[in-house]
Amino acid sequence: MRVQRAAVIGAGAMGSGIACVLSQCGIEVLLKDVEQAAVERGLGNIKRMYDSRVKKGTLTQAEADGLFAAVKGTTSYEDFKTVDLVIEAAFEEISVKLEIFKTLDQICPPRAILATNTSALSISEIAEATKRQDKVVGMHFFNPAQFMKLVEVTAGVKTAEETMKSALELCHQMQKTPVKVEECPGFLVNRVLFTYMNEALYALQEGLATVEEIDAKVVEFGLPMGPFALFDMTGLDVCTHVNTFLYSQYGPRFSPSPLLEKMVKAGALGQKSGAGFYIHEKTPVKGEAKKINPALKDLIAEANKEVTLAKSPRAFHAHRVILPMLNEAIYCIQEKVVDASDIDIAMQNGCGFKVGLMAIAKEKGLAWCLSEISAYHKEQGERFRPSWLLGKLVGANVHDFSALAQDQSKKPVAVS
Ligand SMILES: NC(=O)c1ccc[n+]([C@@H]2O[C@H](COP(=O)([O-])OP(=O)(O)OC[C@H]3O[C@@H](n4cnc5c(N)ncnc54)[C@H](O)[C@@H]3O)[C@@H](O)[C@H]2O)c1
Repeated sequence: MRVQRAAVIGAGAMGSGIACVLSQCGIEVLLKDVEQAAVERGLGNIKRMYDSRVKKGTLTQAEADGLFAAVKGTTSYEDFKTVDLVIEAAFEEISVKLEIFKTLDQICPPRAILATNTSALSISEIAEATKRQDKVVGMHFFNPAQFMKLVEVTAGVKTAEETMKSALELCHQMQKTPVKVEECPGFLVNRVLFTYMNEALYALQEGLATVEEIDAKVVEFGLPMGPFALFDMTGLDVCTHVNTFLYSQYGPRFSPSPLLEKMVKAGALGQKSGAGFYIHEKTPVKGEAKKINPALKDLIAEANKEVTLAKSPRAFHAHRVILPMLNEAIYCIQEKVVDASDIDIAMQNGCGFKVGLMAIAKEKGLAWCLSEISAYHKEQGERFRPSWLLGKLVGANVHDFSALAQDQSKKPVAVS
C-alpha cells in the first residue's frame, strides 16, 4: 500500500521529526497532540527543520513552504477517517498507548495501518487494544528522527506479512534504512547499546579510567560519542528506566550499576538538569572542554559501598565496553531477533557507529571474541556470560558470521 495521507500522534521530539520526514516525501500529515500549545510547538520544530534545509541550500524556500504546508496540526481525531497510516509517538506509557490505539481503531478506516514508535513496550500488547491486530506494527525511529536513518520494524504476534511489507515500503519511501527486528525487550539497538553504557559505569567505579578518558578512548575506537556524553544527552533518568527494564527482562547481563540511580536521586540528570557526568553551562564557551560534575566523586564512593567491584588488573581498553555489545548482538542472532548481516547496518544508522560489531568479529575472529569475553566473564562475572552460539561456532571452527548472514530465509521481507 502506498501511503498518501498519514497521521502522527504526539507532537513532541519524535512525533515532530517523524511528521517532518513523512511530509518530506510528499505525504499529507495530520499532527495530533492533546493541547494546542503542544501542536504549535511541534509545528514550530518542523518549520525550523525546513528553514535549516533552506539555509543549507538543499531546498528552495518555495519547496520548503510547500512541504511544510502538507502538515496540519490538530487536537482532534476528526480528520482521521481518511488516513492510510498512523504513527503513534505519544508518552511511553502502556495505558496511554492502549487508549490511543483503541480510539484509532474506532476512527480510522479499516485499511489503515497503525504503527507505534514505542522504544520498549510490547507491540503485541498494544495491538490487542484494537480489532485489527494484523495491521499493528512497530516502527521505531531514532532521535533525531529527521536525521537518523534507522527504523526498527517489528511485528507483533498477530501482525500480517502484508503490514510488515507496507511498513518496510514506507521506510524506503521516506529514504530510511529499515531493519526487521523480532519483538523482544529493547528491540535490537537499545538492548545492545545499554550493555555498553552499563559497563562504562562499572569501569568508572573501579577507577580504571576517568570519565573523559573512557569517553575519549571510545570515540577513538569509532563510536560517535563516549558513553558518559551519551548518558548526559539521553538523560540519566531515562537511562535508569531503560536499564532497570532490560535487567528485569534479561537478568544479570544487565545488572545495573547503583551509580546511575544515585546520580538521578541527586538531581544530576544530564544536559536537561545542567549537570550529569559533565557540567552543562547554559552558554558554553566555544572550544572549552566540559568540566566534570564535582559531585561525581562522592557519588561514586557512595555507589561503591553497594557493590563488590571486580577490580580489573588490566588498564582500560575500549574492548571492555565494546565486547558486552558484541556479546549481546550475538545473543540477538542466537534468538533470531535479527539477521547477523543487519546488525552493523542498524548500529551505524541508529547510533552513528563508524565501526561495526560484526566487522570486529570478522577482523579478530570468533575464537578471539570468545576468549576475550570469557576472560572478562571470569574477571567481572555474569555481565559477560558468553552466548552459547558463540561457543558453538568457535567449536565448529567458524571464523565469523558471514556464513549465517547468507541464510536467505532470515532476510527481511523483500520490498518491491
Ligand atoms: N526521545 C527519544 O529519543 C525516542 C527515541 C525513539 C522512540 N521514542 C519513543 O517515542 C515516543 C515519544 O517520545 P518523545 O521523546 O517524542 O516524547 P515527548 O515527551 O517529547 O512527546 C510526547 C508527546 O505526546 C503527547 N501526548 C501524550 N499523550 C497523548 C495523547 N493521548 N494523544 C496525543 N498526544 C499525546 C504529549 O503531549 C507530547 O507532546 C515514546 O514512546 C518514546 O519511547 C523516543
